[in-house]
Amino acid sequence: MKLPEKVNVLLLGSGGREHAFAWKISQSPKLQKLFIAPGNAGTASVGINVDIQPSNFGSIKQFVLLNNINLVVVGPEGPLVNGIYDYFQDDNDIHHVPIIGPSRLGAKLEGSKEFAKDFMIRHNIPTAAYKSFTKNNIEEGYAFLDELSAPYVLKADGLAAGKGVVILDNVSEAKAELTSMINGKFGGASNTVVIEQFLNGIECSVFVATDGVNYKILPEAKDYKRIGVGDKGLNTGGMGAVSPVPFADKEFMEKVRTRIVEPTINGFVQEKIAYKGFVFIGLMCDAGEPYVIEYNVRMGDPETEVVIPRIESDIIDLFEAITFNTLDKYELTITEKVATTVVCVAGGYPEEYRKDDVITGLDTPCNSIIFHAGTAQKGGHTLTNGGRVLAVTSFGDTIQEAINESFKTIGNIEYEGKYFREDIGADLMK
Ligand code: AMP
Ligand code: GLY
Repeated sequence: MKLPEKVNVLLLGSGGREHAFAWKISQSPKLQKLFIAPGNAGTASVGINVDIQPSNFGSIKQFVLLNNINLVVVGPEGPLVNGIYDYFQDDNDIHHVPIIGPSRLGAKLEGSKEFAKDFMIRHNIPTAAYKSFTKNNIEEGYAFLDELSAPYVLKADGLAAGKGVVILDNVSEAKAELTSMINGKFGGASNTVVIEQFLNGIECSVFVATDGVNYKILPEAKDYKRIGVGDKGLNTGGMGAVSPVPFADKEFMEKVRTRIVEPTINGFVQEKIAYKGFVFIGLMCDAGEPYVIEYNVRMGDPETEVVIPRIESDIIDLFEAITFNTLDKYELTITEKVATTVVCVAGGYPEEYRKDDVITGLDTPCNSIIFHAGTAQKGGHTLTNGGRVLAVTSFGDTIQEAINESFKTIGNIEYEGKYFREDIGADLMK
C-alpha cells in the first residue's frame, strides 16, 4: 500500500521542532499542501498556519475532512497521551487517515513514569533501580530513601511540563519532597512518585522511527538543559543541541541497539502496543554502558533541529514506510556533517519572560537555518512569543565550525532581552 502520489499534510504543534519538521516536509516532491496547527511565524514561511490547537480533536477532524488531509504528523506529546491515534482509529469518517505517533497505550511510555519503568523491567532494558509510592505506602517510601544513598531522584509519575523530576542531596529534604509531591505539588501528576537510583555519567538522546515492527535509528544528539553556562541554573526546555555525539561511537550505539532499541520494539509487538512514530530514548552513558533515563513518545526539542537537517532522504517516504509497515525497506541517508543548534530565549526565561519584542535581522544572509520556536507575525513584524524564541542551526565539519556559524548568525539577530548559551557543544570539544 502507498500514500497518494501527492499528499496534503497536517502537522500539529508550534515550536522549533515543528518548524524543523515543516521545513523538511516542504522540501518533499510528494507534498501538495502543508498545514501547521497552530504553527508560528517560521512555519508560515514553508506552509499554511491554521488556528487550531493540537488538543482540539473535534476541530482537527473537521479540518482533515474539509481539506482532504492524507497524513497527520503529531509534534508534541499532549495529543498523543490524550489518545489522538485512537480517536482517529475509532472514527469511521477519519480512520483511513494515518497518524504519525503512537496509540494512547504507547504514549503511556511518556505519560506515566511507572508504566515506562515496568515496561523496561519486563523487557530487561537497562535502567536505574526504582520503586513507586502513593499516599497508601508513603512510609515505605521514607524507608526506601533511607536504604538509598545520595543523591536522591524523585519523579512525578505523570506529565508535569518537564518539571516533575527533583534531585536532592539530603535525605530529610528528600523525605519532605516525597511528602509534598504525594500531597499534590504537581497536581494529580504526582499522586504516584517514582524514586530511583541516581545514575552517573553523561546524557545523550537517541531517536528511533518505528512502524511498530521495524525500526530505523535516526541520528543521536546531545541536549543542553540548563539556562546557564556550564549547565548551571534552572532547567529549561533545552538551550541547544549537537549531532552527532562523539562519545556515542559505533560500539556504544551497537549496545544501544541490541540492549535497548530491539527489546523496546519487540516489546511493542509482544504487548500489542500500536506504535507508528518516533521513540526518543533519554540515555545515561556510564563508563560506556547505556541506561535508559526516560522514554518520550515524540521527537526532542531542540534535538529535532539538528537531527532532521542531517537526514538527506525524503521524509514523506519515511512517513509512508511508517504507515504501511515497510520501514525495513526505507533507505535512510544521513549527512556526516556535524549540526549544532543554539536556542535564543526571551529575557527572563525560564521564569516569567518578556513577550512581543520585535525581532530584527532575520533576513540577513547567513549560512544557518533559523528555526522559529516562539514567534508570531503581527503588523509586518516578527515578535517574540514564547520562552524559547529561535533555534539557529548550522553545519560544519567539526562542532567548532558549526557552532561558530550559529554564533555568527545570532550576532545579526536582535530583540530586547536576547539570551543564549555561549558554551553549547563546548564539553564535547575538550
Ligand atoms: P526526565 O524528566 O526524566 O528527563 O529527567 C530530567 C533530568 O533529570 C534528566 O535529563 C537527567 O538529567 C536527570 N535524571 C533523571 N533521572 C535520573 C537518574 N536516575 N539519575 C541521574 N539523573 C537523572
Ligand atoms: N529536549 C528535551 C525534550 O524534548 O524533552
